[in-house]
Amino acid sequence: MKIRHVSDLISYVGNKDYEMARRSIEAMIATETVNDNINNVRILKGAYQSWGSNNDKFIELPQELKKYSYSKEPSRKLSDVYLEPEIVNAVKSIIYEFTNTEKLHEAGLSPRNKILLGGLPGNGKTSLAEALSNELDMKFIKINMAEIVESHMGQSSSNIDEVFRSVNNYRKCLLFFDEVDSIGSKRSYGESTDKERTHTINQLLTDIDGLPDDILFICATNLPDVLDSALLRRFKIKLWINGPTDDAILKYIDDYQAKNNVGFGLINIKNLSGQPWSKVEDFCQNLHRNIVLDTNQTVPENIWICREA
Ligand SMILES: Nc1ncnc2c1ncn2[C@@H]1O[C@H](COP(=O)(O)OP(=O)(O)OP(=O)(O)O)[C@@H](O)[C@H]1O
Ligand SMILES: [Mg+2]
Repeated sequence: MKIRHVSDLISYVGNKDYEMARRSIEAMIATETVNDNINNVRILKGAYQSWGSNNDKFIELPQELKKYSYSKEPSRKLSDVYLEPEIVNAVKSIIYEFTNTEKLHEAGLSPRNKILLGGLPGNGKTSLAEALSNELDMKFIKINMAEIVESHMGQSSSNIDEVFRSVNNYRKCLLFFDEVDSIGSKRSYGESTDKERTHTINQLLTDIDGLPDDILFICATNLPDVLDSALLRRFKIKLWINGPTDDAILKYIDDYQAKNNVGFGLINIKNLSGQPWSKVEDFCQNLHRNIVLDTNQTVPENIWICREA
């Protein structure tokens, strides 16, 4: 093993250029294999593998992507997200496919790793994606597509490409594109103003097609009908997350009281009927807050305080 290669590797890691570090390790393994240095190959491969399994510690998204992305260890659990039975079944299937990839690979198949979540705001698209990554023990990488498009119009497609290239380094992660409609809306061919959008969607399609199957790719949208049809076709599973029924609201409130060891007394859910899950959560937390602080003073929600009409 040449000392120059080792020092290159150290400087790549020091500069957080993990792509070059990875390439450099691979080149070292190849050289040692050609030279028949079995012991060195074994040591290098062992180190490389442990890097792979701990790579969340080493690999970060490039600095310029951090503005519109974040990655984290997921904390939300699936049991925290209230879902309709059909969605629960679909989620179980996704988990089953991902925990049995080897079986699928042996048969020449892959798990379905491209999923679209649709639904009105506040009904749990982001929460479900995070809970899934927790369940599958994957790092959760959330990219805000609206930011990518708005802040770098001329640069959108290369930003997207950059995201996919960075995420390829993580492997075994959940890549979540929020508000994908802001980038993936219908292309109108021929109009020069839409050239950039067409280019961006094409780049997105190319990157999606090249995605390895140990990356679970989930997109969320409130507006699935505006999505480009070629993009829509890429999603092998599409789940629509509805708001709660009245029964589900009552169950949530019961569970909330039990989990938090608090009693709300008699409550009327009339005003919650037809509202998204986020409102049900707010409702419970507001009551809970008042109980903890022993007050009835409430600041009204959803209206501007002191804003002139
Ligand atoms: N199905 C659900 N079960 C339990 N809590 C939920 C559910 N949906 C939403 N919540 C709660 O409401 C809040 C908002 O949820 P979330 O951000 O996941 O919604 P969203 O569909 O991604 O909304 P948006 O379209 O605005 O991004 C979260 O704090 C979450 O705890
Ligand atoms: Mg969301």
